Amino acid sequence: MKVTILVGTMTGTAEMVAQEVQDSLAADGREVETVLMDGLDGGVFDRDGAFLICTSTYGQGDVPDNAQAFYSALEGGRPDLSGVRYGIIALGDRTYTATYCHGGRRFDELLRSLGASRVGDMMEHDAGSGTMPEDVAVEWSGGWAELLDAPQRSAAA
Ligand SMILES: Cc1cc2nc3c(=O)[nH]c(=O)nc-3n(C[C@H](O)[C@H](O)[C@H](O)COP(=O)(O)O)c2cc1C
Repeated sequence: MKVTILVGTMTGTAEMVAQEVQDSLAADGREVETVLMDGLDGGVFDRDGAFLICTSTYGQGDVPDNAQAFYSALEGGRPDLSGVRYGIIALGDRTYTATYCHGGRRFDELLRSLGASRVGDMMEHDAGSGTMPEDVAVEWSGGWAELLDAPQRSAAA
């Protein structure tokens, strides 16, 4: 199944993470495309395959600037996304206790409210953890991709 990675980033970390995940999934024979969220609207979900939201968090738990218009277009237009399957890679920093990884969490809540189904658990990365987000994401994405191929084990809970 094809995968489109949608990237929300302020300083490029999420884009770098997405590129590493793309390379890893492609090495496993999967067709993957990475797209920055700039200028997107709900029409992007007309593509075939599954979606991976890869986003950081800024401000007071906000999505990054390049994701704001996309988020607002979904929130305002409320497209029917039933049938859409997605995963979330959320980048954040636990020093922001009240808003840790809220960028990813906000996309998760929005997509679910539009009828989309999350596959697997959301991945969260703490910038202060001492681990590299791309390493954690590549490892996580292997399991996520397996769940895509085993729909009966996919969970939106
Ligand atoms: C000004 C600023 C605000 C941030 N706000 C949050 C936040 O509210 N919650 C959070 O979990 N992380 C927050 N972060 C951490 C970033 O999300 C994290 O460093 C991420 O890896 C950056 O990825 P990017 O380069 O793709 O934007 C903030 C970072 C900065 C510099």
